[in-house]
Amino acid sequence: MSLPASPAPAVELIGVRKTFAGRAVLDGVDLNVRRGERVALLGESGSGKSTLLHLIAGLEPVDAGMVRVAGTEVSALDADAAASFRRSAIGFVFQAFHLLPHLDAARNVAVPLLLNGVAAPAALERATAMLARVGLAGRASAWPRELSGGEQQRVALARALVHAPALVLADEPTGNLDPSTAAQALALIAGALESSGAALVLVTHSAQAAAIAHRRLRLDARGLRPDDATLP
Ligand SMILES: Nc1ncnc2c1ncn2[C@@H]1O[C@H](COP(=O)(O)OP(=O)(O)O)[C@@H](O)[C@H]1O
Ligand SMILES: [Mg+2]
Repeated sequence: MSLPASPAPAVELIGVRKTFAGRAVLDGVDLNVRRGERVALLGESGSGKSTLLHLIAGLEPVDAGMVRVAGTEVSALDADAAASFRRSAIGFVFQAFHLLPHLDAARNVAVPLLLNGVAAPAALERATAMLARVGLAGRASAWPRELSGGEQQRVALARALVHAPALVLADEPTGNLDPSTAAQALALIAGALESSGAALVLVTHSAQAAAIAHRRLRLDARGLRPDDATLP
């Protein structure tokens, strides 16, 4: 009798190398993020944090090493297969919220579902329910320009979670928010991930933001290592 297989880690990186114009930005990077785990990634500007997120998402090819997300070897997929895997398994939150200006809040949130083949009425229903979970019940038909920065980031968070991804990648998600709005957004992110079970890799400069992580890592020329100096 065999034991049930434990779920694959949310993220596994082994010996990842990435060069731009012959210069290694990442070299020999290893990382393991468990299901449901929240990891903060700190590091100087230009150290390669955004590049690392792009490699995890399969947005760019690695030059060496392996990237696996929820058991799928992203680094072995071609661009089309990576895009289709990304749509189903990964949610993104950016500093610039990247809402589509010509779509209302619910339709912005519905985009990942539509891309995954969910029919429009069901997608809008799920998007509206997700908006309610981030405190935006009643704002489903608001246009992005009618929403405050904090509200726009909550729409972006709803969009990142609506398709129940195994992994959320966030690149400076509170970089454009004032401290109190940022604190609310972070509490919301932590709570939403707690209930969805999605893992998080969060790039941030902020100790406040890093505090929602279970683990803090610092990226520099030597790779990734634990960083607990950032605990508030
Ligand atoms: N597409 C690209 N082409 C060339 N160089 C790039 C590209 N993307 C990033 N870089 C370079 O790689 C380094 C790391 O960039 P980045 O990952 O954006 O750092 P961080 O997010 O930590 O500030 C920088 O020197 C940047 O100029
Ligand atoms: Mg960056």
